[in-house]
Amino acid sequence: MKAYLNEIKKQIKSVARFVRGWYYGMDYTEIIIRKRDRISERQHFKMIPHKGSQVYIEKGFRVFSGHHNIYLGSHISLVDTLINAGNNVGKITIDDYVFFGHGVCLLARGHDYNFFNEERHASITEKPIHIKEGAWIGTRAIVLGGVTIGKHSVVAAGSVVTQNVPDYAIVGGNPAKLIKMIPHHENM
Ligand SMILES: CC(C)(COP(=O)(O)OP(=O)(O)OC[C@H]1O[C@@H](n2cnc3c(N)ncnc32)[C@H](O)[C@@H]1OP(=O)(O)O)[C@@H](O)C(=O)NCCC(=O)NCCS
Repeated sequence: MKAYLNEIKKQIKSVARFVRGWYYGMDYTEIIIRKRDRISERQHFKMIPHKGSQVYIEKGFRVFSGHHNIYLGSHISLVDTLINAGNNVGKITIDDYVFFGHGVCLLARGHDYNFFNEERHASITEKPIHIKEGAWIGTRAIVLGGVTIGKHSVVAAGSVVTQNVPDYAIVGGNPAKLIKMIPHHENM
């Protein structure tokens, strides 16, 4: 009986999808994307299970995938960041006192370029991202999977970070290169 009701529900949903698609002039795929986009910033944030205190987000904050694989410390400002975390090894860790400018993208997930068309799209690659204590990521920077950003370092606005950033370094550009080191005492 339950299976039968579920099947009816499925049928109703698919008719509703078709009607909506016809009404808005969109195809099936676009409607699916719109559904995901309707999740609010607050809901995305709530779906992240591992987080400390005083984590600040703003309108536009969004997690494309892998909420459960995001680990946030305390006193962090993520404003309107886009996070694409993996479901497996694509873990994203953000330590205490990290803060971001607007529109930062953390991309722990990608696709395997050795495949083509649907196969490429269906393939998923994952690498972890770790942003260490006190790092400042400038506006519209992109951090790719496999990257560790050192503590108290700075990523300049608009950079694409493809490699690890040492502690206390300022990096910038695409791909991001070392600009200079920040003077500090060894025990800081
Ligand atoms: C990285 C940053 C902090 C450097 O600050 P700064 O006061 O400009 O530092 P400097 O003047 O010492 O610049 C050092 C070098 O970095 C280069 N540089 C600065 N910003 C850069 C950027 N976004 N991309 C690439 N290189 C950059 C400068 O051209 C300069 O190069 P040069 O020495 O060959 O002339 C700053 O440029 C930046 O990107 N800040 C982020 C701003 C932001 O996102 N604000 C939002 C609020 S969180």
